[in-house]
Amino acid sequence: MNTDHPVLNAVSRQFQLSFGHPASHLGWAPGRVNLIGDHTDYQGGFALPMGLHLGVGIAAGVGAEPGLRLYASSYHETAQLTTWNSDVTRLPGWARYVAGVVVLSRQKGCPVDTLDLAIDGDLNQGSGLSSSAAISVATALVLQALTGWQQTAAETCLLCQEVEHRFAGVQCGIMDQMASRLCPASGAVLVDSRNIKASPVRMPPGQVEFLVVESGVSRSLSESGYNDRREESAQALAAIQDHGIEAEDLRGVNQKQLEPLLGKLPTLLYRRARHIVTENHRVLDTCRALQGGDFATAGELMTQSHKSLRDDYESSHPRVDQLAEWAQKARSVLGARITGGGFGGNVVVMVEPDATDRVADKLKHDCRQHFDHDPTVLKISTALPAWSGEAAGSGNA
Ligand code: GLA
Repeated sequence: MNTDHPVLNAVSRQFQLSFGHPASHLGWAPGRVNLIGDHTDYQGGFALPMGLHLGVGIAAGVGAEPGLRLYASSYHETAQLTTWNSDVTRLPGWARYVAGVVVLSRQKGCPVDTLDLAIDGDLNQGSGLSSSAAISVATALVLQALTGWQQTAAETCLLCQEVEHRFAGVQCGIMDQMASRLCPASGAVLVDSRNIKASPVRMPPGQVEFLVVESGVSRSLSESGYNDRREESAQALAAIQDHGIEAEDLRGVNQKQLEPLLGKLPTLLYRRARHIVTENHRVLDTCRALQGGDFATAGELMTQSHKSLRDDYESSHPRVDQLAEWAQKARSVLGARITGGGFGGNVVVMVEPDATDRVADKLKHDCRQHFDHDPTVLKISTALPAWSGEAAGSGNA
């Protein structure tokens, strides 16, 4: 990564201002947009996220005072753990991710006693583009660079996921952490959440573009139905196992096994399972289609995925459904769907390249006219993969 990046420059300056000494190390982790494969990653399944050029930058240095001192530019806010036993959940939301990563790393053997961290980014928190995973991954990487403590990428992803579970109250899967930690600069990454394996998925360049359109329905995963859906998916698995199907997770169930259970499982659990089982197939089919340049098929699969999330998984929102429908009907759009945790958030749209601006303008116009909302529309470009290293001029080289 080019360290002459506006976010890294700003966070280095802020570090000096906040703590009175220069940062020795810098870290960066990107946000993500998921092309397809939602609500599969806590049932061993597949997802296909792409990394973003937007993300979170962190500057770090050994602190002069015991414990952990934090500053977040976006909130103009400080936070502190004076002892390593202090309660992380009493910190402001953003600080729980940062402190959570440091505390858990320390418990797992990372040699850190005093630490100062400044955080900045060009990804809004709560925008549905995985800002929390980006904060956690950037923290983990800068901490590893500073202390020399090593973890595999999979261990880092699991640690960052544990932070969400223990300190943020979201029983999330592992897609966001894997996307942020492992996404390549171009193309998408096939996440295999059962084996914590990431495989790059390249597509012929220049044939489609992706837009992310924000619906204006903000949602916080800890307050939305996310944890309920996760619980329902576990109940669906248990009910399927009760019918004699041996599967360790819903990824291990196929359509042939599921279909005869229609009318035998409680309807709601059947529908939740049907989404996950069919979505896993759609992800793998989409990978094949994208790699082979069959964008029409990939787009159709995205649109089917939206319907499944809307009708079977019920994790969409009427306004997001409307936005997805406008997108799906627009000329030159190959497919569109809700993306991420759902219950609001964003729609991802696959568009023919010469039509991107026209489609973006049309969707903005529709949102303004019908929702009285001026949406942010993000054009996906080359991602900035996760990185950490010494700060320029830190004298550590
Ligand atoms: C959120 C979670 C992920 C994943 C998605 C839905 O982003 O953090 O683990 O479950 O929702 O696919």
